[in-house]
Amino acid sequence: MSGGGALPAAAPERALSARGARIAASAPGLLDKGFALYVADPFDRRLNPQGILNLGTSENKLCYDLIEERLKRLDMNYLEPELFHYSDTQGTKSFREEIAKFLTDYARAAEALNPEHITVMSGCCAVFATLSTVLCDPCDGYLIPTPCYGGINSKTWLYGGIQPVHVPLFSEVTDEESHPFQLTAEKLEAALQRAKNQGIRVRALILINPHNPLGDIYPAQLLKHCLEFAHRYELHVIMDEIYMLSVYGDATFTSVLSLDCVPDPERTHFMWDFSKDFGMSGIRVGVLYTRNHEIQKAVNQLAVFHGCPGPVQHVLSQFISDRDWLDNVFFPTNKKRLKEAQNILVDGLADVGIPVLKSSGGLYVWADFRKFLKSQTFEAELELWQKLLEEKLLISPGKAFYCYEPGWFRLVFSDSVDKIYLCIQRLEQMLHADATESAANNISSNADALCTLKEGSSGNPSNTPGDDVSQLKNILLYYNHICI
Ligand SMILES: Cc1ncc(COP(=O)(O)O)c(C=O)c1O
Repeated sequence: MSGGGALPAAAPERALSARGARIAASAPGLLDKGFALYVADPFDRRLNPQGILNLGTSENKLCYDLIEERLKRLDMNYLEPELFHYSDTQGTKSFREEIAKFLTDYARAAEALNPEHITVMSGCCAVFATLSTVLCDPCDGYLIPTPCYGGINSKTWLYGGIQPVHVPLFSEVTDEESHPFQLTAEKLEAALQRAKNQGIRVRALILINPHNPLGDIYPAQLLKHCLEFAHRYELHVIMDEIYMLSVYGDATFTSVLSLDCVPDPERTHFMWDFSKDFGMSGIRVGVLYTRNHEIQKAVNQLAVFHGCPGPVQHVLSQFISDRDWLDNVFFPTNKKRLKEAQNILVDGLADVGIPVLKSSGGLYVWADFRKFLKSQTFEAELELWQKLLEEKLLISPGKAFYCYEPGWFRLVFSDSVDKIYLCIQRLEQMLHADATESAANNISSNADALCTLKEGSSGNPSNTPGDDVSQLKNILLYYNHICI
């Protein structure tokens, strides 16, 4: 024991690493906040009719009857002991073989998929987290057209610490050929140059097709231009085709797998999962297809943290190998129900004066609430969102998707018809209660929107590039291209 004075107190050890502290400090996004409110007070026709109606979460609830019926068949009950043992972390061989056959046919692949190039993980979020970790170093950037599915950012940031470089798209229409929120290779170029000027090393381009939240489908030509752009700059392309089979309009969907000649196959990676096209977001199974051996080796090391249970892999194999059921029951019915639900929502929104963007895929519509904003700012968008929540209606504000124009909301239609009607009813009550006030603040206040973007106000998505503001000119023209 020392006889001297007290030793200086050691600095308390931080419980978290710097990385842990960064992760702990990241605030939940708007979609997470909205979902938490819904979970605390969910609408239930019988038990909680005044509860929150959720048209904010992108889930397909239209075909559970079909899935339930198929699940009851005998082949689903067949469990082998191996399914309960450790298996290949990449996914069981038989499941990967079934996935390869399934994707070859349903993505109309140019050549048969090789099961060895497939890794199965617990959902597309896990694929994003893993892929971004092995492709990028902390603070590297990835290009992503916005608005975009907001979850990508949290997954890539939380794991790999990488940052989005937005390619902002606007509703303006500049010529006969273009349409609202249109992506072009020139916009990708401009965003890449901006990032370079800011000293950001961009490593990848993420494309969502069919798009979330726009419901757009990339024409084959645009897809090729994007791939060529990425090839020119040696960028990886991560094709998120999670809504690949939720296409109900007349547009032709082109999967990246179906292209005869991909400019840079070693840097082109495809992902899909069961959440949306099979309405099984709770089953948590996603697929990565990459021809790049080194990347796959790295991904497979991390896949041990994101594996899928053997019995689940077996059940899903039964689903995707039953072509008779897929072709004659599940997909035709799903498509028909999606189209019907979309029509009901679009018509109902039109009745309350809300136009939507024309869409052909996904489970939602991108709707223009700008004339209901008090001012053309993100603060006003959030205020409207809060008001809707007070009316017990959850929809998703554009800010959650990094949209650069305030006033756009995503509404999910893949739920029972009575909920859609109730949503319209609640919307009507709320929006028309203060119709006189909002009429004065209609969408003609472009100047406000311009100021908001230029000043980078608090409501603005981060990373807002000032020079894109000029694109807000001609904003009114977009009405030619929406369906109402
Ligand atoms: C475009 C897109 N990609 C990925 C995901 C994540 O899918 P999962 O939750 O099944 O991992 C979602 C979920 O909404 C999505 O919309």
